[in-house]
Amino acid sequence: MTSITIFGTGNMGQAIAGVLARGGADIQHVGSLDTDARIAGDIVVLAVPYPALAAIADSYGDQLAGKTVVDITNPLDFSTFDALVVPVGSSAAAGLQERLPEAKVLKAFNTNFAATLASGTVGGQPTTVLVAGDDAGAKTALIDAVQAGGLAAVDAGALSRARAGGPGLPAADPRRVREDRLDGRVHPREVTSGRSPSSPRTPAVVLTAARPPASVGA
Ligand SMILES: NC(=O)c1ccc[n+]([C@@H]2O[C@H](COP(=O)([O-])OP(=O)(O)OC[C@H]3O[C@@H](n4cnc5c(N)ncnc54)[C@H](OP(=O)(O)O)[C@@H]3O)[C@@H](O)[C@H]2O)c1
Repeated sequence: MTSITIFGTGNMGQAIAGVLARGGADIQHVGSLDTDARIAGDIVVLAVPYPALAAIADSYGDQLAGKTVVDITNPLDFSTFDALVVPVGSSAAAGLQERLPEAKVLKAFNTNFAATLASGTVGGQPTTVLVAGDDAGAKTALIDAVQAGGLAAVDAGALSRARAGGPGLPAADPRRVREDRLDGRVHPREVTSGRSPSSPRTPAVVLTAARPPASVGA
């Protein structure tokens, strides 16, 4: 049985736990008040705000060595919502990997919503989780666990795809894609568009799962 530790019991922590538990994984939760937890999972999901990553890495670095550590954060400047708080060319995941050099850091879930993880569907399509990382075995284990929980999961390429300064968030979630298209943040190549006869000015969004997106956020 896959054993998974989830830091954070908020919206995403609960939604991700629901998916992975449906797939048969054994789930351990670690809350913000647990300062010296014994981490049981082989996969550790950090379902916490971006600023909490550094403290968790500092407190649990020894225990996280050798484990798969999943960064789900969107490191936005929440005072303005118009910029990332990580340097251009870097990413939250890259920073986490630097702090945890012996862990296998993945980026995943950041392009999903808690609600569509829980429902398993968005826009009439299965909710799709993008997984970026440099360790093939770690990615396969997470993808298998997500798929066992009834969602789609796609290998989105190397951890370097989880970078700031790319063309924008990826085409994993049709609702998110539509929002990003409104902002002009999704490159046209990220979607396979076909015009709907009923609304010719609104291209239908079809996910291009065969080719990873240019960026999976930060
Ligand atoms: N909500 C979404 O749809 C969504 C989508 C994509 C990505 N994300 C990302 O997912 C992450 C979590 O978002 P959320 O919506 O789940 O936030 P949330 O509902 O506010 O939950 C955050 C959780 O993190 C916990 N936490 C904070 N510091 C911690 C620490 N040091 N150790 C353990 N737990 C800690 C909090 O515990 P306390 O309550 O005790 O402080 C809380 O349970 C964020 O980075 C966000 O950017 C969210």
